[in-house]
Amino acid sequence: MAFLDGHKAIERHATLLAVLSFLVVTIGGLVQIVPLFYLENTIEKVEGVRPYSPLELMGRDIYIREGCYVCHSQMIRPMRDEVERYGHYSLAAESMYDHPFQWGSKRTGPDLARVGGRYSDEWHQDHFQNPKSVVPESIMPPYAFLGRTPLDIAHVADLMRTHRAVGVPYTDEMIANARADLVAQATADGDWDALLERYPGAQTRNFDGQAELTELDAIIAYLQVLGTMVDFSTFVPDASR
Ligand code: HEC
Repeated sequence: MAFLDGHKAIERHATLLAVLSFLVVTIGGLVQIVPLFYLENTIEKVEGVRPYSPLELMGRDIYIREGCYVCHSQMIRPMRDEVERYGHYSLAAESMYDHPFQWGSKRTGPDLARVGGRYSDEWHQDHFQNPKSVVPESIMPPYAFLGRTPLDIAHVADLMRTHRAVGVPYTDEMIANARADLVAQATADGDWDALLERYPGAQTRNFDGQAELTELDAIIAYLQVLGTMVDFSTFVPDASR
């Protein structure tokens, strides 16, 4: 057949094959990628997802500094064994304010995408102090120093400005009140009205159980918010997209 003869010619000329393959891959690639630049939003907005509060954001920074992502993922895949163990699969919107995202690539320990609310603050305090005290077979290293290290909040507003520069919608008001909000969130019996207006649903209490504001406050506040922003009892995936 003439058509197959034509194909024979392509198969016999390495250069022609390379050029034509390149063209096909280029067109295919463009068709996939170009529309993403023109779509208003590639992530479905989901109710409840908000930027991290200053305290949670600092906790996240400590999480990155300590390399927790080396052993922990934050990405529940839509497969039955994952969903039964960790809860609803992760939504893109749930990491839309994560720069860089913390999906991870290795699970030496469990996925942490929905660890928020799974354990008490006291459990986390004990676990960081000495993981084996609550999980005898644990191979996670202790992070006892977090509870002894005062939280350095001098640069929290800068940290928020940096996140704003890459697209997190922190307002001037949020940045101006960064330190006050941070301290209020970690204080039992604080004045939380303004904080809760800016960060709806933020959990407020003394997370590390000590008088002083420490890195342990920040990292526990961060862990306790993970996966809790979306209310999955009412969430309906938007099937129209
Ligand atoms: C060397 C690997 C390793 C590193 C690094 C590590 N972890 Fe873990 N983590 C584990 C393992 C293994 C477990 C499971 C046993 C246990 O609960 O201690 C675990 C469990 C946990 C749990 C309980 C999760 C659950 O659902 O039961 C939390 C929370 C946690 N890690 C947080 C952290 C944080 C925060 C950091 C960084 C400060 C960190 N881990 C660093 C290995 C690690």
